[in-house]
Amino acid sequence: MGKTIIVSNRLPISLDYKDGKPDFKTSAGGLATGLGSIFEEADNIWIGWPGNYVEDPEQRAEIFLELHEHKMAPVFLTQEDIEEFYEGFSNETLWPAFHYFTQYIAYERRFWEAYVRVNEKFCEAILKKADPDDTIWVHDYQLLLLPKMLRDKLPNATIAFFQHIPFPSYEIIRMLPWRRPILEGMCGADLIGFHTYDDMRHFLSSVGRILGLSNESGYIQAENRLINVDAFPMGIDYTKYSESADSETTMAVVEKFKKQLGSQKLLLSIDRLDYSKGIPQRLKAFDQLFKLYPEYKEKVSLIMVVVPSRDTVKEYRELKEEIDTLVGRINSAYSTLNWVPVHYFYRAFPFEELSAFYKMSNIGLVTPLRDGMNLVCKEFVASKTDQQGVLILSEMAGASKELQDAILVNPNNMDKVTEALHMALNMSEEEQKTRLVSMQETIKRYDIHKWVKVFMDRLKVVKDKQEEFQSK
Ligand code: G6P
Repeated sequence: MGKTIIVSNRLPISLDYKDGKPDFKTSAGGLATGLGSIFEEADNIWIGWPGNYVEDPEQRAEIFLELHEHKMAPVFLTQEDIEEFYEGFSNETLWPAFHYFTQYIAYERRFWEAYVRVNEKFCEAILKKADPDDTIWVHDYQLLLLPKMLRDKLPNATIAFFQHIPFPSYEIIRMLPWRRPILEGMCGADLIGFHTYDDMRHFLSSVGRILGLSNESGYIQAENRLINVDAFPMGIDYTKYSESADSETTMAVVEKFKKQLGSQKLLLSIDRLDYSKGIPQRLKAFDQLFKLYPEYKEKVSLIMVVVPSRDTVKEYRELKEEIDTLVGRINSAYSTLNWVPVHYFYRAFPFEELSAFYKMSNIGLVTPLRDGMNLVCKEFVASKTDQQGVLILSEMAGASKELQDAILVNPNNMDKVTEALHMALNMSEEEQKTRLVSMQETIKRYDIHKWVKVFMDRLKVVKDKQEEFQSK
């Protein structure tokens, strides 16, 4: 058995500069935690972009050596790659298309060409490290062409692909001039995973209609290969969040924050800056709460964390301005000398402080217009160790399929979101507990470690079936 190579656009570290010298920060993200157990084993490695432009070849060589020590191999992107592949095709074409924001899709040939070029760059970096019997696990929409590029060079390798964002209906996929090579690219894998059954169904339907390949119970027969497609809803590191919620450090931070905030009820929202997250819609529903129920003034506030992201892309910059204006409008309309309705933070927070926010807030308000999975809602639920708290969750998040005991809302229906807030603010302690216990059981059972194991076990099954099929 060969080694496992994990490939994602971003490495599980991010590169910054301190006094002109490269400085690495390890990522505490869900994927890094989950795959950590794999990539630390034996000769396994992680290949990806360190997340910044490095001009100086000497610095590139230094970074290469440093990362090598940590079992990672960098793929360096030029400024043009960053503009055309990362910001361009990945985030101005695929991201809006896959999240149903068709009005934002950029149809630029040079973006597509860069996408092909950078996927090839990743392929070359992998080929330098890969042996023919290795397992290569490719992640996410930035690398859709990679499975086929690898298959062409390593016909017997075990190649898996997981899509972390939604896979849209055939009606959207057909709009893309590059729909065929995109689907062919993905079909280079032996196993293709999505978060939800709906994403999987959309993919199979597009493969049927565009590539003419049918499937039987999720198995596509392509030339002389079998490809399995299925749903594997990603989980979180449940223990990490539940233990942290009760840790002394978190309790101390909660204590400090509570002293500053007083006894008001707290709503919490945490997102990357992204139009798919429905942040303006959420703010409008919150504003309406005070119009319909003025008794909540000075009694309820929203802690809203927006983590800076992709702010070089026009739509993201405009969204930031819209959010700033809305928050300004709400706060200026209702604030009193000792109360502010929206505590708005445009920055990332350390884990302990996020954990304290989860622990101390009464309502988790997670209302994306479209989201592949959304892990924030799972982290909120896992942190509620006293089984008190209410989750309001968008039907459009992949997680809603598992978290049926949340108050589920259509995020476009402002009246329903306001109503859900009113309901959550008045929910009995008993009902909060019943709902939370049920959701906690679900996400504890299928945590991030289980997700990795189930996916990897399936990959072995598919490979065995493949051999059986090819020997016939
Ligand atoms: C989503 C995507 C990831 C991506 C992350 C952050 O979760 O599924 O692939 O890495 O957003 O976005 P960024 O553009 O900063 O990598």
